[in-house]
Amino acid sequence: MRWMIVAAMVALVGCKQQAAENKAPAAGAEGAGGAPVAKKLSVGFSQVGAESAWRTAETNSIRGEAEKRGVDLKFADAQGKQAQQIQALTSFIAQKVDAIVLAPVVETGWDVVLTRAKEANIPVILVDRGIKTSDESLYTTLIASDFVEEGRMAAEWLAKKTNGKANIYELQGTTGAAPAIDRKKGFEEVLAKYPDLKIIKSQSADFTRAKGKEVMEAFIKSDREKIQAVYAHNDDMALGAIQALDEAGMNPGKDVTLISVDGVKGAFEAMVAGKLNATVECNPLLGPLVFDTINKVRAGEKVEKFIKSNDQLFEQSTAAQVIGSREY
Ligand code: AHR
Repeated sequence: MRWMIVAAMVALVGCKQQAAENKAPAAGAEGAGGAPVAKKLSVGFSQVGAESAWRTAETNSIRGEAEKRGVDLKFADAQGKQAQQIQALTSFIAQKVDAIVLAPVVETGWDVVLTRAKEANIPVILVDRGIKTSDESLYTTLIASDFVEEGRMAAEWLAKKTNGKANIYELQGTTGAAPAIDRKKGFEEVLAKYPDLKIIKSQSADFTRAKGKEVMEAFIKSDREKIQAVYAHNDDMALGAIQALDEAGMNPGKDVTLISVDGVKGAFEAMVAGKLNATVECNPLLGPLVFDTINKVRAGEKVEKFIKSNDQLFEQSTAAQVIGSREY
């Protein structure tokens, strides 16, 4: 009899314990002993792809910073396709993330999905590229460089370098992307002051080294004798163009003046080798600023609609001194 009573008591204690475990709060609300445990911030990051060294540096900066801060980062690589970015955003909304970070591949076509994010009260932070929208309230802020200004800086430098006279061959970025549109706009704005500084041919090479080489080869084939300068919307395309010029025996950096945008390590190496003449920096190390901004927004603080990075131009003459301190 006595052992039956003991067994019943043990069973009762076991049942109570089980019930208590089932009721235990989900991780993130309360820990052992009821002590509050901070819920991990969850952020969805829709990235354009991995088309350039610059893009990889940006991805690493945002991923690295998320890891440092213990943020649950849901990362989606869109492989250059807007449809994949829209799909990623739809999934982030369904997962009820705390914030969305979007590097939009192109400028237009975001209103529908961003309206859904707004309805779900999820702040959207645009990084490095802006969008065109009829409703500016669909995103909280844009953290980026001023691409129009980068285009202006490139043209002013080229005008000085060539005494305002050169046949320019332009390698554009991805069609419809903000940096392609704006870098062209800023460049042409300055060119208007120099009637002998002319864009002879201009074509998209999609921000990649392979296409930069391919397009440059076509320019060389048709216009070899005319090519005096190359303006590439990013360093990777310029590096591809340098390869094409080298293979054609055309002396890039000397007989052909090249300027591009980004300031990646490869561009500095090309400048040290005397093959690229200048690059306009565009800062991809946005991770710390992105998460500081998300924290501010979540704390109800007001943030600027455009948080601008300050960039500078680097020339071949100082490349060797500077290359050691480059972070990307
Ligand atoms: O949006 C920034 C641009 O996109 C960078 O200049 C280019 O390298 C990248 O692909």
